[in-house]
Amino acid sequence: MKSRLAKNEALATEPKVAEYLQIMDERITQCNKIIGDLISFTRISSPNYTVVILSNVLESTLSGIDIPGGITVVDNYGQGSMEVRVDPLQLLKVFTNLIVNAYEATLEGGELTVVVTSKESSVEEAIKDTGPGMSPEGLEVIFEPLYTTKIQGTGLGLAVCQQVITKHNDRLEVHSKVGVAATFTVTLSLFSESQ
Ligand SMILES: Nc1ncnc2c1ncn2[C@@H]1O[C@H](COP(=O)(O)OP(=O)(O)OP(=O)(O)O)[C@@H](O)[C@H]1O
Ligand SMILES: [Mg+2]
Repeated sequence: MKSRLAKNEALATEPKVAEYLQIMDERITQCNKIIGDLISFTRISSPNYTVVILSNVLESTLSGIDIPGGITVVDNYGQGSMEVRVDPLQLLKVFTNLIVNAYEATLEGGELTVVVTSKESSVEEAIKDTGPGMSPEGLEVIFEPLYTTKIQGTGLGLAVCQQVITKHNDRLEVHSKVGVAATFTVTLSLFSESQ
């Protein structure tokens, strides 16, 4: 439509036409997101395992997200290069969903923290924000597919995260209080030669 209208000078310069085309563009982008989210939710395959350095996955996650200015990102990946046996693309998707949720919840001037803590045979990645947190009722439903409180949300982000982590036999937990921020923690098994 755009290219055909461009050939018609009277229509091409009509402000209403430009406005409606812009609205259609935006709606198509939203539809694409919903369809893409639904497809990735229904097609989560079994993990394609590879041994990777955890901090590399976290770094490439953060570098792929355009976090708005005004939010401070504190990354503390801990010491050493811990190895985990995961599907790196699936794990990147999990961290991306959690970090995007965290910054969407965080107001300007807030802080988003990614902390890695190693335990004996596992490693925890905590994504903390200084947003409004969630009520106990909210916490009961956030992992349900299509639950969203956002105007343009699909409500599949956390459902995908949970499915991926469950398929890895790992753990995803959330701790939050209303008005006192939220922390999502992924616990992965550390790689050992016997695996
Ligand atoms: N860090 C957070 N702080 C406060 N509320 C959160 C946080 N993360 C998730 N939520 C709540 O959980 C809901 C579900 O999150 P989920 O990621 O599944 O979907 P969404 O972000 O709404 O949409 P999308 O599918 O585009 O990710 C959110 O709409 C929000 O209400
Ligand atoms: Mg989300």
